[in-house]
Amino acid sequence: MVSIRQIGRAIAPMLPSRLEWMLKGLYLKLYHRGYLPLTYAKAAKMDRAVQEEFGVDVVPPPHLRHRVCGTPDLRAYLEGGRNSVETIKTALTKHGVKLCDPSSVLDFGCGCGRLTLWWTRDFPHHAYFGLDVDPDAIAWDREHLWSGTFEVNGGVPPTEFNAETFGLIIGVSVFTHIDESLQTAWLKELRRLARPGAVVLATVHAEKLVEQLAPPWQREIWEKGFGFFRQDIMPKGFPSFYQAAFHTRAYVDSHWSRYFDVVDHVEMDFHDLIVMRKSEGVR
Ligand SMILES: C[S@@+](CC[C@H](N)C(=O)[O-])C[C@H]1O[C@@H](n2cnc3c(N)ncnc32)[C@H](O)[C@@H]1O
Repeated sequence: MVSIRQIGRAIAPMLPSRLEWMLKGLYLKLYHRGYLPLTYAKAAKMDRAVQEEFGVDVVPPPHLRHRVCGTPDLRAYLEGGRNSVETIKTALTKHGVKLCDPSSVLDFGCGCGRLTLWWTRDFPHHAYFGLDVDPDAIAWDREHLWSGTFEVNGGVPPTEFNAETFGLIIGVSVFTHIDESLQTAWLKELRRLARPGAVVLATVHAEKLVEQLAPPWQREIWEKGFGFFRQDIMPKGFPSFYQAAFHTRAYVDSHWSRYFDVVDHVEMDFHDLIVMRKSEGVR
């Protein structure tokens, strides 16, 4: 079925630009004030049954789930978080990290704790820190996830943590949303926060997704190795710098290796998990 969004995209170039903006504004109003509240209410009705199925006592409200996984659906939220944690555990084991070792874990861009839930069940002895620019998500985490410590950070580094605090840093679906200069700034900051020998894991959009983008975007990504594009519609609550970033594997290998040893690209559904290490001697 053709969606309203697709129709909009097709007719937009034929409209005078003022009319295009007015229609876009109207569409966004209807989307945020009508469609989303209804969708959230519908999703919440299923929560209790899904919570019981997954054995989870407390879950974030639909609007916070929507911000981190693009849908308010609780099953997608819980399954996605559990799968991500399993992929991370497998990747760490593959690269010789003893899962009881890192002791101090940073979840950079933790949102409303999609990974926290599963990670802290498996490793209750780890000191788990979550950091995010989203104050609503962090407020929810602080109230409900007692197994971790949560802080709001500014969009731009530095953070308030001391250098070499963490044995493991995880950033799922954060570098998929920030521009190149912010990525550079955060890679430097994560290197500062990582202990020598620490493992740093971050996801990028899988290369196979590039084929689904508009042809000019595809060209830009293949030429530069990186592309950063504005998203049409965002859930409320995100800063304006939060858009969509795409990397080629070759770009990650050449650019991210300035900060860490890039040791692996592990395929997840729509993301690649980049496995990096801070060399032992590096400060
Ligand atoms: C797609 S969500 C993923 C959240 C979580 N990692 C997960 O997998 O469920 C991206 C998160 O990154 C956060 N974020 C984006 N830029 C950030 C930054 N510069 N510093 C900290 N958090 C950031 C957003 O607020 C959002 O919660």
